[in-house]
Amino acid sequence: MDDEKLGNQFDGKEVYVKDVFTEIASYYDEMNGIMSMGMIRRWHKFMMKKLGNLQGKRCLDVGTGTGEIAFLVARKAAGGEVIGLDITPAMLELAKKKMTDLGIANVEFVVGDALDIQMPDGTFDAVTSGYMLRNVTDIPKAVGEMHRMLKVGGRCVVAELARPGNRLVKPFYNFYMNRVIPHYGRKYDKGMAIDGKQPAYDWLTSSIEGFPYGDAMVEIFRKAGFRDAKCYVKSFGAVNIYVASKEA
Ligand SMILES: C[S@@+](CC[C@H](N)C(=O)[O-])C[C@H]1O[C@@H](n2cnc3c(N)ncnc32)[C@H](O)[C@@H]1O
Repeated sequence: MDDEKLGNQFDGKEVYVKDVFTEIASYYDEMNGIMSMGMIRRWHKFMMKKLGNLQGKRCLDVGTGTGEIAFLVARKAAGGEVIGLDITPAMLELAKKKMTDLGIANVEFVVGDALDIQMPDGTFDAVTSGYMLRNVTDIPKAVGEMHRMLKVGGRCVVAELARPGNRLVKPFYNFYMNRVIPHYGRKYDKGMAIDGKQPAYDWLTSSIEGFPYGDAMVEIFRKAGFRDAKCYVKSFGAVNIYVASKEA
């Protein structure tokens, strides 16, 4: 493994990840609510606050999945537009259906790779991403693409899983990740191997192995050019939200 790529990397990861999200697309939103114990709403509220005023702005949500973050950004970006980019068409199909149901018109969903975004430098005023970085094969490259996509002065807000540092919280966290999530996940993924590898919800926990968070992730953002990158710790450290701007 290339050390610079960090996180849980293995041969065939890109195809495996796409197949995992294709498999779980239809129950992804429901499971997110269950697994985050409803806290996901608060994380997203904080992300929106950190984005500031987006009226009339162009925004990109990378690894948009079923579009939850893209829709929140779209409401803030009235008069502007949001591109929701994802590598898994099945997730985007659901996002498109949800968009019609929600009556939102200013989001366009496109199939694309976060590691090689087919758009010119400096296209967006804001870039968001939620829970995607563990899934890519090259984390610094994905963060570099977010930086490239931003206009100077634009802001990037990224949410990802982390690990609580507090020793009183750790045992609860470990029990939750290693027992509770696989228990619920099994009801949905039925323990079915994907591409001869682990079932979908086992990937959720093992994707955290070796995944950089906190200061280590801030360093990745800084190396990508985000000199003011900051990490906000949420839910006792189970989730971190990184906020950074593109400077001149
Ligand atoms: C855990 S889901 C998060 C979805 C959404 N952001 C949310 O908040 O619910 C991760 C998403 O990242 C997407 N993804 C993984 N690797 C990607 C890549 N290289 N480029 C674009 N999207 C990717 C997956 O298809 C999946 O939809």
